Amino acid sequence: MIKAAFFDTKPYDRIYFDELKKNFGVEIEYFESKLNPRTAIMSKGAKAVVAFVNDDVGKETVSVLESIGVRMIALRCAGYNNVDLAAADGVIPVVRVPAYSPNAVAEHTLALLLTLVRKTHKAYIRTRDFNFSLNGFVGFDLYGKTLGVVGTGKIGMAFIEICRGLGMKIIASDPNPTQKGIEYVSNEELFSRADVISLHCPLTSSTYHLINNYSLNLMKDKVYILNTSRGALIDTEALIDGIKSGKVGGAGLDVYEEESEFFYEDYSESILKDDVLSRLIMMPNVLVTSHQAFLTHEALRRIAEITLGNIRGYFDGGKLENAVSYKRK
Ligand code: NAI
Repeated sequence: MIKAAFFDTKPYDRIYFDELKKNFGVEIEYFESKLNPRTAIMSKGAKAVVAFVNDDVGKETVSVLESIGVRMIALRCAGYNNVDLAAADGVIPVVRVPAYSPNAVAEHTLALLLTLVRKTHKAYIRTRDFNFSLNGFVGFDLYGKTLGVVGTGKIGMAFIEICRGLGMKIIASDPNPTQKGIEYVSNEELFSRADVISLHCPLTSSTYHLINNYSLNLMKDKVYILNTSRGALIDTEALIDGIKSGKVGGAGLDVYEEESEFFYEDYSESILKDDVLSRLIMMPNVLVTSHQAFLTHEALRRIAEITLGNIRGYFDGGKLENAVSYKRK
């Protein structure tokens, strides 16, 4: 049995890991705490650490894990912007789940878009109060509108396929413009032509605050912006200014640049201390979900299978499936 320490555990995480762990010969100790330099010590005795999107896999955490004998970090997510690759490389291998259900994320992106455009989030509340008025509910057809997709990888392409079905015109930007049948344009052209912009690129130094005052100025009035990728792709203050000025018609956000303290936790009995997030949530044409685009049964099962397979494969043969950082032997 390989012992693994599992951080930031929620009840839904355990469903498939508990079901499948025996098949892979992995024993799991679950911790509710997030992984960070202080909590890393809790993994003493474990050979692998399983971490998620808002865990801190920075230099200090890596150093503590290495010093207590942890031999690998298995991310149970695709993005790895929370990992200090320079600190991990050569010290401790880090693996991830590069793809588990691009459709889960793409379908959630569609849910955000349709809800915002047809205002079903408000209609639900209104009819529950027996208020059957339609005032303020005028939406628009997506058919014939232009969708601009930033990043035509697995999720971006799944979203494009869905939106083609709606009859939208598609344009896209990507530094690797390899997909067939896509009209690739520069980011600037995409921002100026799209009615709906959807972000599906990773967070890197070159995509940080891709949506900012400059790019917002290039956009059409009443543009809709969707972000199910990573929060820091958007300069939130600039987005709020764009919403206040009417430049942005609606924003569907599954991610937020300061989400790590709040998302996945219940603050319903507290006063939220993040004024920017509070302001966003209070805006009638903004829909915030708590980094849940991945959350389907199909995706959770694949995440568990691939993560456990990554761990087993490494300890069986030293094979590094899906590695983002290596330890040279
Ligand atoms: P992928 O690696 O298949 O595709 C990413 C694409 O973005 C690639 O084609 C790449 O060339 C492109 N790209 C890189 N830099 C770019 C730039 N500057 N401008 C435009 N395109 C650029 O990744 P996948 O699986 O499609 O995931 C995309 C992102 O979705 C991940 O990085 C992750 O942050 C996010 N994600 C969010 C989830 C959620 O629950 N909200 C779940 C899973 C992933």
